[in-house]
Amino acid sequence: MSMGKASISGDEIRAPVRRELDLVEDALACIFSPDITLVSAIGRHLTAVKGKLARPTLVLLCAKLGSPDPAFAVKAAAAVELIHTATLLHDDSIDRSHLRRGLPTINRLWNDQVSVIMGDHLFCAAFRLLHDAGLFEIASVFSTGSDRLTFGEMSQMDLRGQMDVSEETYTEMIRLKTAALFIASCEAGGLAGGLSADHRARLSKYGDYIGTAFQMIDDVLDIVGDEETMGKPTGNDLRDGRITLPVIVALRNAGDTEARRVIDIISSKGTVASDFKDVIDFVESNGGISYARDRAADLAVKARACIEGFGPSPARRSLILLTERLVSRRK
Ligand code: IPE
Ligand code: IPE
Ligand code: MG
Ligand code: MG
Repeated sequence: MSMGKASISGDEIRAPVRRELDLVEDALACIFSPDITLVSAIGRHLTAVKGKLARPTLVLLCAKLGSPDPAFAVKAAAAVELIHTATLLHDDSIDRSHLRRGLPTINRLWNDQVSVIMGDHLFCAAFRLLHDAGLFEIASVFSTGSDRLTFGEMSQMDLRGQMDVSEETYTEMIRLKTAALFIASCEAGGLAGGLSADHRARLSKYGDYIGTAFQMIDDVLDIVGDEETMGKPTGNDLRDGRITLPVIVALRNAGDTEARRVIDIISSKGTVASDFKDVIDFVESNGGISYARDRAADLAVKARACIEGFGPSPARRSLILLTERLVSRRK
C-alpha cells in the first residue's frame, strides 16, 4: 500500500505477505484471461498495471496474526481484489472518470455498457472463487461488505449537488462506500487465520478506522494531490458537485459572503479552471485540508490501538506501520 512517510515503504508493509501476494496475482491472471476476445482484452488492460493491493494485503496480514491455511487466505485475498476492481469499473462509469492507475478507464477505452458488464463479471468471479473453495463464511463477509459499498455509492448520489452536507453524514457515507470493504478484508483475514470472535471484532474496528481515514485522505488528494503520482484525475469530486470533508469544513469556517461565493462556483455548470484554483485556495486557507488530515490521523491512532493487543509479529508490525503510512500517502 503506497502510504506515506518516506521512511516506511509499501514494500516494507507488504513484506510479511509478499509470497502470498505473488500467488494472488497468479490467481487473478487466470481469471482475467478467458476465451472471449472482449473479456481477455479487458483482462490484459486490467493486469497491465496493478494497484496498491491494499485490501488483499490486509486480508493476508490479518490472517497471519493467526495460523492461516495459506490456500484459503490467498483465495480470500484474490476475491477481494476482484470485488474492488469490479467496484472501480462501476465507479469510474458513475464518476465519468477517464484515468485509473495511470491508464485510460474501461468506460473511456470502451464504454459504460462494457464497464458495467465486466464489473458484474468480476463480482461473479469473486464469489464463484469463494464458493468453489468452500469459503462460505468469508463469502458472507464479502457480500455484506459489497452490499454496504453499493449503499455508500448510492448515498453519495443522493448527496450530489447538496451544499450543506454535515461532517456526520459525510463520514457515514464514506464508512459505507470505502470502509465497508476494508472491514470485510480484515474480518475475512481473521476468519482465514482462525482467530477468535473477540480478535476478529478488533480487526473489524481496525478496518473501519483505516478505511474511513483512507477515503478522507483520498478526498484530500482529489483537491491537493498530483494527478501524475496518483494515476487518476484530481478535481473530480468538485467538478461533479460532490462535497467532501475539506470543503464541508472550509464552508463551515468561512464567513457567509465568502462561503456563498464558493457555493455558487461549485454549483454552477461549466466552471472554468481558474474558478477551481480559487476553490482549492479557499479550502486550504479555511483549514479544510489540515482538518481532514487531522481527522484521518485521529482515526489512524484509534486503528493502531486495535492492533496493539496482538502478540508481536511481522504481520502486526506491518498493520501498525500501515496506520502511519496511510495518513501521509500521496497515491
Ligand atoms: C481506490 O482505491 C478507491 C478508493 C476507495 C479511494 P485504491 O486507492 O485502493 O486503488 P488501487 O487499487 O490502489 O488502484
Ligand atoms: C471510491 O470513491 C470508490 C469506491 C468505493 C468504489 P471515489 O470515487 O472517491 O474513488 P476514486 O477517486 O474514483 O478512486
Ligand atoms: Mg471515482
Ligand atoms: Mg466515486
